[in-house]
Amino acid sequence: MTEKRPDLLPPGPAAIARAAEVLRAGGLVAFPTETVYGLGGDATSDRAVAAIFAAKGRPSFNPLIVHVPDAATAERYAVVDERATALMEVYWPGPLTLVLPRRAEGGLSLLVSAGLDTVAIRAPDHPVAQALLAACDRPLAAPSANRSGAVSPTAPHHVLESLGDRVDVVLAGGRCPVGLESTVLDLSGPTPALLRPGAVLREEIERLIGPVTVGTDDPEAPKSPGQLASHYAPSAPVRLEAGEAAADEAFLTFGPDRFVRGGAARLNLSTQGDLNEAAANLFHHLRQLDKPGIRAIAVMPIPEQGLGVAINDRLRRAAAPRG
Ligand code: TXA
Ligand code: MG
Repeated sequence: MTEKRPDLLPPGPAAIARAAEVLRAGGLVAFPTETVYGLGGDATSDRAVAAIFAAKGRPSFNPLIVHVPDAATAERYAVVDERATALMEVYWPGPLTLVLPRRAEGGLSLLVSAGLDTVAIRAPDHPVAQALLAACDRPLAAPSANRSGAVSPTAPHHVLESLGDRVDVVLAGGRCPVGLESTVLDLSGPTPALLRPGAVLREEIERLIGPVTVGTDDPEAPKSPGQLASHYAPSAPVRLEAGEAAADEAFLTFGPDRFVRGGAARLNLSTQGDLNEAAANLFHHLRQLDKPGIRAIAVMPIPEQGLGVAINDRLRRAAAPRG
């Protein structure tokens, strides 16, 4: 691998223009969205999409999300039914990805869908992502900008640590306000299936389109039923439902912790017990606590309600046995 340093650019108009040029030439650009940083490439280019898989070390059977500016653009690439339209009207742009039948004539690289006849598509709610989509005028395939299996990046320096030598430009737009990857909802069949919980909640979706079943976004899941695939994992082991931490553990707390003792290092997800704040801090704090010499990261219980469902999903995967 060649030692390459990406251009880390504050996202003004010149940087956006430069990044768009790189994308149109088949290069890779990391950019902020409201959820996490994405590793973007032209979704109509086999070469760009293959470069994304290679940069992440991602198995080619795990499909990517295509980013578009709005619902009208999504219709070029996917078959948008009434359920999808109802959800897009309320939640787009925003942290909701819809898996829909792919239009063969749309021109997306088949690699994006990893051999499936569906496509996952979303419109990001972030000014830099929207400016980039407008400037390059292409749909952008963008997984989270981290090595496969690692914690998603919520700040530009996370991208540099993880993929610094594999990306041409990083648009450095600060911290991501949501901090967890988008909700993924499969609408390709008769019954909607929640493949990944996120900031758009299952109960909010059900209010608009009726009952939703819970599936899994793990492409290997059918081969290992009952097993939680390790994902979103720091290097140190993660121990959940911890009431206290040992002297050689790091402690990730939640809620008032004035009287909490123990742990070689401690960070609080939200002293107020605010789940939105906790989600925005989750990946950032996990990275901060994941330091050499730490035997494990102990995590206090998080309530399984609202955004807590998505936080606990990521924590369970971070704690799952490593493959
Ligand atoms: O918030 C997000 O969604 C971020 C930002 C950058 O937009 N992106 C992201 O991408 O998290 P990624 O690749 O890390 O996660 C995409 C998820 C994976 O779990 C993948 O299996 C699922 O979406 N997925 C993609 N295409 C699919 C398809 N056609 N059918 C089922 N699942 C799909
Ligand atoms: Mg990811």
